[in-house]
Order: sequence, then C-alpha cells, then structure tokens
Amino acid sequence: MNVLAIETSCDETAAAVLRDDLTVLSNIVLSQDEIHAPYGGVVPELASRRHLQSIDLVVRESLDRANVSLDEIDNFAVTQGPGLIGSLLVGLSFAKGLAYFFRRPLIGIDHVQAHIESAFLEHREIAFPALALIVSGGHTSIFSLKKPLAYDLIGRTRDDAAGEALDKIAKFLDLGYPGGPIIQQLAERGDPARFEFSLPRMTDRSLDFSFSGLKTAALRIIRENGLTKTDDRLADFLAAFESAVVRALLENVVRAAERLKPRSLILCGGVARNRRLRTEFEKQTREAGMTSFIPSPKLCTDNAAMVGALAIAKLKSGQALESPLDLDAYPRQSPLEIIPPDHRRPAKR
Ligand code: KG4
Ligand code: ZN
Repeated sequence: MNVLAIETSCDETAAAVLRDDLTVLSNIVLSQDEIHAPYGGVVPELASRRHLQSIDLVVRESLDRANVSLDEIDNFAVTQGPGLIGSLLVGLSFAKGLAYFFRRPLIGIDHVQAHIESAFLEHREIAFPALALIVSGGHTSIFSLKKPLAYDLIGRTRDDAAGEALDKIAKFLDLGYPGGPIIQQLAERGDPARFEFSLPRMTDRSLDFSFSGLKTAALRIIRENGLTKTDDRLADFLAAFESAVVRALLENVVRAAERLKPRSLILCGGVARNRRLRTEFEKQTREAGMTSFIPSPKLCTDNAAMVGALAIAKLKSGQALESPLDLDAYPRQSPLEIIPPDHRRPAKR
C-alpha cells in the first residue's frame, strides 16, 4: 500500500510518498524562507499564494522520486490543522481533488500529532507510556501517551511558542529569518554565563510554559546593554538566551517525567533541530534512567513524511476517517490542545 501525504500548514510546501511498512519513498520540502525573510516572519497571504504556485510541482516531484504513479496511490493524507487557514486550504483542496478523482480515501491529519509521529518513523521500538515535548514556531506542548495514538495534553505554552520567541528576538536584532537556526549558529561561539536569565515560573505549579516572559527579559537585557547585531557581546547574549529557552523546556519535561514515570521521552518539532536542546534533552533523559528519541533534523521541521506516517498508523489502527469531501481545515487550536479541566488543577505531590 502506498500513501501520498501533503503538508501546507505554514510556510513549507511538502509532499511525501510512503509504503505502509513506513519506508519513506520520497520526502520533498519546498521552503518559502526567502519569501518571508524580508518581513522577519511568515506573511500568511504570501504563504498561501506560494503554496498555490508550488503544490502541483512538489507533489509531482514526490511521485517522480518515489517512482510511483498517482494511480498506484492507495490512500491520500493531508494536514487539516492547526496552521494558517489559507495555507491549509491549498493542501486540503488539492488532496480532496486527488482523492475524489482517483476514488481513494483521504485521511485528515493533525499537524501536532504528526510532529510526534515523526519520532516513530525512525524508531519503531519506542516503548509506552511515553512523554512527548513538541516545540516549534507555533507550538510548545507536552503530551503523555499511554499507548499509540492516545494523546493527553499535560502542559502547553500560555503565550508564545519557544520557536516564536527565538524568531522574534532574531527579528528584533535584525539577524534574519527563521531566527532559531541563526541564533544557534551565532550562539555557538558564545558564553552563556555572561548574561543572567531567570526563568518565569507558573504560580499554580502546572506544567505550562510562558515564553513571552523570557522574550521580555531578553528585550530588557538588549536595551539595558545597548546590544546590536554588531556588538562583541552578541554571541554571549544569544548563547544565554538559547540556554534559557532550553532550561525552560527541560525543567517542565523533567517534572512531567518525575510525575508520570514514562518509559520513553520524545522531542520533536522544528526547535528540536537545536543542538543545545538535543544534547541537554538526551543528557537529562539518560540521567533520569529513561530513553530519549529525537527525529533526525530534517524530520523535525515541517515535512509530509510525518503526515504520511501518522496516516499509516491511523489506518492500521482503524482510526482513519474515509470521508474525503467533508474534511475541514482548522486554523488555531488543535482539538488535542484543549486541556481537560482536571489537568488544569495544581498538581498534588
Ligand atoms: O516545526 P516547524 O518547522 O514549524 C512549525 O510547526 O512551527 O518549526 C519552525 C521553528 C521556527 O521557529 C524556527 O526558528 C525553529 O523551528 N528552528 C530552530 C532551529 N531550526 C528551526 N530553532 C532553534 N534551533 C534550530 N536549529
Ligand atoms: Zn510544524
């Protein structure tokens, strides 16, 4: 069985072909970074227009590289949300058209779940219960998975996502877009001990994050020290900011792991490409006696292979919906990110 997966939730036009044994036959990602770079962030209208221009070529390329023709595709899969509505609709409409024409099922996929599934593409051996930290430009959440495909949200950001904070500080300092990889590169030469960041804490002891507070602290340090992109202290400042972001992420993951005692810890999402985060995540997981799973960098940022992987998992579990034409896009909150009321209560220890 072959699956053609499409992902257009933000600023990457992506298509992938997978076999049902999870072999990735092709995984094409066309980045729009150079279109959005002059604005220091994604411009939604430009993103959806560019998806429209590229989707046909990207899908063709994924089929060519996989050496599979459209009539050899047994199932189509597409990201339904969350993401930019105009961008999502390009992929969704394109996928609906294909599924309708070829009379094949279309499986709607949640972007956040797909990021988590990217870890399973390379590691079938992940043991349950598992904890997953998804950290990207749009999301920063911790999920508990007691078994495959059973996601329980136990913490999320109350304001900015971690990647968003990195991108915004890079934009403020005029360093370029996307900010995360640029900060990583510049921070490599820096000494994080030269600037002090105290981490914001939730007063209710929940596992939620707040990156807006960290961003405000960074802006205050920039102003107080008159830092600019040409300053000698820039690398030190960026190293300190990057490591504060990493500490904020790991602090909650460690607390969640102490509480729930999972067998595996998963790190995923675009910011999971970050070297400091990967190293620290692995180290702290090992010290806690657990096993960590981090997808290889190209599977961390948005791609369609992760969408295909989740479609296959859903098909195998009998969870997949096969109603192509009434699938709808959802822009903001994933149904997954609505915290059940009992998780909002302060944790008892
Ligand atoms: O998962 P993704 O491609 O898109 C969303 O779903 O948001 O993540 C994009 C985010 C951006 O904020 C970008 O700055 C960040 O991932 N990112 C990184 C690195 N590479 C990408 N952040 C830190 N270090 C990196 N190496
Ligand atoms: Zn993403």
